[in-house]
Amino acid sequence: MSELISRYLSDVAATLELGREIGRGLRGGEVIALSGDLGAGKTTLAQGLVGSLGYRGEVTSPTFSLVQEYLGGTLDVFHFDFYRVEEEYELLDLGWDDYLDRGGLVMVEWPALFPQLLPKKTRWLELSHKNGGRFIEEIAAFS
Ligand SMILES: Nc1ncnc2c1ncn2[C@@H]1O[C@H](COP(=O)(O)OP(=O)(O)OP(=O)(O)O)[C@@H](O)[C@H]1O
Ligand SMILES: [Mg+2]
Repeated sequence: MSELISRYLSDVAATLELGREIGRGLRGGEVIALSGDLGAGKTTLAQGLVGSLGYRGEVTSPTFSLVQEYLGGTLDVFHFDFYRVEEEYELLDLGWDDYLDRGGLVMVEWPALFPQLLPKKTRWLELSHKNGGRFIEEIAAFS
């Protein structure tokens, strides 16, 4: 198993670069949980990551839809934001299980709102504000 991430990100560029680093290591079928409070840098990390997969369009928090799809890069990416989801069934009705089976990358902001939906293999990344920058820590899986 590769080493868990634990790093200070002094500025936006550092967040984007870490996203690219993570993206370069992906093969498809991964699930990445991006947790952290408002403005912690979740979407910025997602931008670096998706950019490294060759997707050239805009990457933003999925606000009006619960999921945003970035297709056409080396991996398809499905970017969820659980922030506005009230009930688990909203995600199930949207085809959550199918998204997990599509062989792309599933990324989730605010994953702790519905942790039971996330498969065991999920990589948990926690971002927080620190000294004007951000700190990121990868949480070890329980199993
Ligand atoms: N390492 C960093 N140091 C300082 N600012 C950063 C860093 N990383 C990201 N930012 C900035 O923090 C702001 C919030 O980032 P971002 O939108 O990625 O947060 P978020 O966690 O997705 O927020 P939300 O919970 O609202 O979706 C942006 O202006 C972004 O440029
Ligand atoms: Mg966001």
